[in-house]
Amino acid sequence: MQGQVGTEQILFTRGVPALEALPNRLISECLQAVLEGPDGKNILQYGHNSGYLPLRQLLAEQYQVSPDQILVGNGSLHLQDLLSALLIQPGDVVFVEQPSYDRAIKTFRRRGATVIGIPLEHDGVNLAVLEQALAKQTPAFMYVIPDFQNPAGVTTSIAKRQALTDLATQHNFWLIEDVPYRTLRYTGTPLPLLRDLNTTRTITVSSYSKLISPALRVGYLIGPTDFVKRLSKLAEDTILAPVLPTQAAVVAFHRRGYFASNLENLKQLYAPRLKSIVSALKTSLPDISFAEPEGGFFVSITVSQEKVGNTLLARAREQSLFLTDGRDFFADPIDGSDSSHLGANFIRLPFCALTPAQIEEGVRRLAQLVQ
Ligand SMILES: Cc1ncc(COP(=O)(O)O)c(C=O)c1O
Repeated sequence: MQGQVGTEQILFTRGVPALEALPNRLISECLQAVLEGPDGKNILQYGHNSGYLPLRQLLAEQYQVSPDQILVGNGSLHLQDLLSALLIQPGDVVFVEQPSYDRAIKTFRRRGATVIGIPLEHDGVNLAVLEQALAKQTPAFMYVIPDFQNPAGVTTSIAKRQALTDLATQHNFWLIEDVPYRTLRYTGTPLPLLRDLNTTRTITVSSYSKLISPALRVGYLIGPTDFVKRLSKLAEDTILAPVLPTQAAVVAFHRRGYFASNLENLKQLYAPRLKSIVSALKTSLPDISFAEPEGGFFVSITVSQEKVGNTLLARAREQSLFLTDGRDFFADPIDGSDSSHLGANFIRLPFCALTPAQIEEGVRRLAQLVQ
């Protein structure tokens, strides 16, 4: 096996679930059950514009909010786009962590915002830079991924969570916390959600993509009732109706006890993969320090610019090693300077969809290219 791995393509490109982790039989059973159950015809009809009510009720109980505070959409990226359409006015700025989720940056820009990145440290954003940025302008919102961040793997510390929520109140801006990886904690203790620290200025977004399957397209948002009402109207005007059969299947997945067992299976599969990547990086690239995540899908490293030049991706491809362009994860810097070079030496390493042997081999090939 080891010999075959040496010539095999290794994709450190997409943060997707492992194919073997997708519970196709359980989903099939749940879909069949809901389609043949008492609500079978209703979930094939238009309706439930804020999302399938039993799912909103289930989430309301989980998050200790009212179902009116929940909007279920077709994946969380869809909800981010709706949020952007509602909150971003011409000329607005949006703050993100630097680096941040590439598709979120693109979405905010497409909706007309200038997206400014606040440097991310190993325990969350640099607060001094954030305060400097806030002294200049108030953003339409600040978008953060506090748990096992995509792409950096960083978890925001409790002190910085508190500071972020205090600043949101003080400067009166929305804090959007995107938490699709939060439940995938392999070690350590969960920290509070930002909404646990500040309910009035926080909008929480999450998704079943990493916890059951991305193709179900079930994501959700929690916010103040009035805000969710306006957003639901916008959703209705744009997509007419959510995908109710998969939302109903998610409810059945929970009620049959599959969610808890599936989550346990995911953790059992992914935890050794995280261990493998951390140990491979420490062995092959001992001089590079990186944030060691306790969960999620990503580890990232920043390598020396001289070693990387403009050719890293092409040289990696020659070794059958596929990497994402680090520049995609970088927004505009706070001083307005040219951002085109930012992130050229930033490497995101999604580890969940690779076996420990592939991870070890991939990091070995990477180390040869960057040192
Ligand atoms: C931080 C983050 N937010 C949102 C998404 C999009 O998820 P969904 O499939 O729910 O649209 C992803 C997907 O990778 C992500 O990493």
